[in-house]
This record gives sequence, structure tokens and C-alpha cells, in this order.
Amino acid sequence: MKIRFINGPNLNLLGNREVGIYGEKSLKDIQDLVTNAAAGKNVSIEFLQSNHEGQLIDWIQTAPAESVDAIVLNAAAYTHTSIAIRDAIAAIKIPVIEIHISNVYKREEFRHKSLIAPVCVGVISGFGYFSYLLGLEAAINIVKTKTNC
Ligand code: DQA
Repeated sequence: MKIRFINGPNLNLLGNREVGIYGEKSLKDIQDLVTNAAAGKNVSIEFLQSNHEGQLIDWIQTAPAESVDAIVLNAAAYTHTSIAIRDAIAAIKIPVIEIHISNVYKREEFRHKSLIAPVCVGVISGFGYFSYLLGLEAAINIVKTKTNC
């Protein structure tokens, strides 16, 4: 099984960026935790980050042809703005799980609206770095059981 984690803008700054909200772990720390959690489960992990909307869309579009079984997506601020990312998710036939480190519903009103949630299997938000590990578990379960809830 292959799971692609896609991280959007400013997530490369994790560990330095608004640590009161996003915590002290870097994206590399989180990648290592996800990779370790997947070890022994016969799951291969791809862990990608870009600040560019088009690159995120390319990684979503190419996933099925590159034998990716599920995507775990932290689209960061593009969650709230990008019709193009929503359309890319709607265009592919593999499950996409939306995740966030912070609880976006506890924050500013503009973060309460996700344009991508309606085309994702589900949303995980507010568990800090652990949202990534929950995303991994959700992805494995969906691929194994082929249930999109
Ligand atoms: C975020 C929440 C978004 O609202 C924000 O723009 C981010 C990170 C999160 O992981 O909590 O950059 O996706």
C-alpha cells in the first residue's frame, strides 16, 4: 500500500512558525513519526511539501497513475481558498483525507470554511502533530476495507 502525504504552504516552517498553535515539531520530525508508525505495516509513505498551489494539484492529479492508494492532505491556507485543489481531488478516484494540526473551528472565522472537505472522505483537525498519525490510520483503514464511510 502506498500513501502520499501532501503538505501545503508554510508547513515547511513548522517548529518555528507560531509554535503556540502548531507546536515545536518540524515537518521532518512529523515525517519521521509517520514513517516509523508505518514501518512493519507494509505501507510505503511519500511525504511532500510545496508552497505552490499548482505543484499540490500536480501531486494530487498524478497520484493514481503512480500507484498511490490514498492521500493525506494538509492543504494549509489553500484549504480555505482553493477551488482548483477541490476540483483536483474531485477528479481522482482515490480517497483523500483532509488533516489540520490546529482545530480550525476554534480559530478565526475564515478558517471555518473548507472548500475541500466536501470532496474528502473525512476531516481530522486539532490534534497537533498527532493529526498526521490519525490521518495515516484513517488512510490504511479506508484502503484495507475499501469503505469511504
Ligand atoms: C492548518 C490550518 C490552516 O488554517 C492554516 O492556514 C495552516 C495550517 C493546520 O494544519 O492547522 O497553514 O492547515
